[in-house]
Amino acid sequence: MTAPKKTPEALRSARWFAPDDLRSFGHRSRIMQMGYAPEEWMGKPVIAILNTWSDLNPCHGHFRQRVEDVKRGVLQAGGFPVELPAISLSESAVKPTTMLYRNLLAIEAEELIRSHPVDGVVLMGGCDKTTPGLLMGATSAGVPAIYVPAGPMLRGNWKGKVLGSGSDAWKLWDERRAGKLSDAEWTGIEGGIARSHGTCMTMGTASTMTAIAEAIGMTLPGASSIPAADANHIRMCSEAGRRIVGMVWEDLVPARIQTRAAFLNAIVVAMAMGCSTNAIIHVIAMARRAGCEIGLDDFDAASRRVPVIANIRPSGDTYLMEDFFYAGGLPALMSRLRGLLDLETLTVTGRTLGENIAGAEVCNDDVIRPLEQALYEEGALAVLKGNIAPDGCVIKPSACERRFFRHTGPALVFDDYPSMKAAIDDEDLDVSADHVLILRNAGPQGGPGMPEWGMLPIPKKLVKQGVRDMLRMSDARMSGTSYGACILHVAPESYIGGPLALVRTGDHITVDIGRRSIHLEVSDEELARRRAQWTPPPPRFERGYGWMFSRHIRQANDGCDFDFLQTDFGAPVGEPSIY
Ligand code: FES
Repeated sequence: MTAPKKTPEALRSARWFAPDDLRSFGHRSRIMQMGYAPEEWMGKPVIAILNTWSDLNPCHGHFRQRVEDVKRGVLQAGGFPVELPAISLSESAVKPTTMLYRNLLAIEAEELIRSHPVDGVVLMGGCDKTTPGLLMGATSAGVPAIYVPAGPMLRGNWKGKVLGSGSDAWKLWDERRAGKLSDAEWTGIEGGIARSHGTCMTMGTASTMTAIAEAIGMTLPGASSIPAADANHIRMCSEAGRRIVGMVWEDLVPARIQTRAAFLNAIVVAMAMGCSTNAIIHVIAMARRAGCEIGLDDFDAASRRVPVIANIRPSGDTYLMEDFFYAGGLPALMSRLRGLLDLETLTVTGRTLGENIAGAEVCNDDVIRPLEQALYEEGALAVLKGNIAPDGCVIKPSACERRFFRHTGPALVFDDYPSMKAAIDDEDLDVSADHVLILRNAGPQGGPGMPEWGMLPIPKKLVKQGVRDMLRMSDARMSGTSYGACILHVAPESYIGGPLALVRTGDHITVDIGRRSIHLEVSDEELARRRAQWTPPPPRFERGYGWMFSRHIRQANDGCDFDFLQTDFGAPVGEPSIY
């Protein structure tokens, strides 16, 4: 067992509670006002539990109960738990996109921790942006932190057919658009696809990001795979409560865990999982908060050497996160990746990643494949560059038809989401299956907030002809549960004058995933002429949070963090004065 490094006098919270002065009298008396006797909290680590529960976030619907389990663990280990609510960021409810608010959650988390008498923090999240938002904030705050993932919901079910969040909704929606599903059938699907609390149970952004949190070392071993409704999840919560108290005494701060090697491990794991494209943006932002330089090239390098071995939808066509848990979960998957991981990285357990996964076993070789029987030989994501995306863009080859790995086609350009939506079901739309559908003004500034619009619908007339995949391109993101030949995150974005703004309907675009290239077949001279004619659109926001967002958001290849929150912006923030 690691020897304690901290004394009660050295606790951060002691600055609020210990001095014999009037200010501390006020702090102590207000704790006692809540009914706590001094022996319940004096000299004990104060553990903040940042809870992203809300009535409008079904993915975190169980957090009202689970927070009590975390508190139980904190008390058992001799800490003093305090719950601090934080913005919930429900992926299904927040418009125009939760991505507009990821950094707001990060700011809230950081400042909640910094401004209160907090020695350690338990972060309760899971629905897409809550994982990076909470971790980014806690990393910047710098106190010991442990992440508690909400866990995936149970498998969906409709008439005995297994349904996966998002992925099956997109597929079945195309069937409905083609007139093959009745109103009653559609209502039945609505009632069956989300059967319990918990996050999307496909390999969407939520499961990707919680797996990444575990691979970095910020969760207990196996925590990210446990279904939300499983009793193991309750035990994991109380264990996290116990463990954070130990982390405070050991001064196990995020900076000791979140090294570049830890982030590279996370990228390897993400690739092997067939991860969401959103992972790229979030990991870059998280790593840079930790002072680690991670960029698009790190993802591309990993994607060339790491096979996809998690047979989970949408990259796989059968299994879901519940099956992944029964197959051994993330420790089992990481045990298959030993040769590709740095096993010496430190984790919240105080042990190394290698020690954490010692003895982990795969219980189902079809769910977690052996490396030599991978789902895809290469990783889940490819980074493309070219004259239309000088700062890069991404595609998920494992989730698209192989005929698009090398493709040239004419562009069909939509200037914004409403015009695309209005045209896409027009039976007279001049479009073929070889076209490249383009949506612009959907990036960080243009969306605003870079909404998940990147899986543009297949035009209705082509759906009726049986077309189910097309090359699509945008500066938007797409849901991790989405699939198809969608080129995303084009940087710089069109709204600020990136080359995507200059494409015209009928121009030809060539994509070559093997060469990692994308090219607009228009001469430099013609592009210069078009640029001279281009006028910047008016600002999206004139006031409020959006005003701040639009002035400080960075582009997708830089992780979409605010410039003033990154480690290279000025001097580090000090501790607040409490006087
Ligand atoms: Fe919350 Fe998918 S909607 S994880």
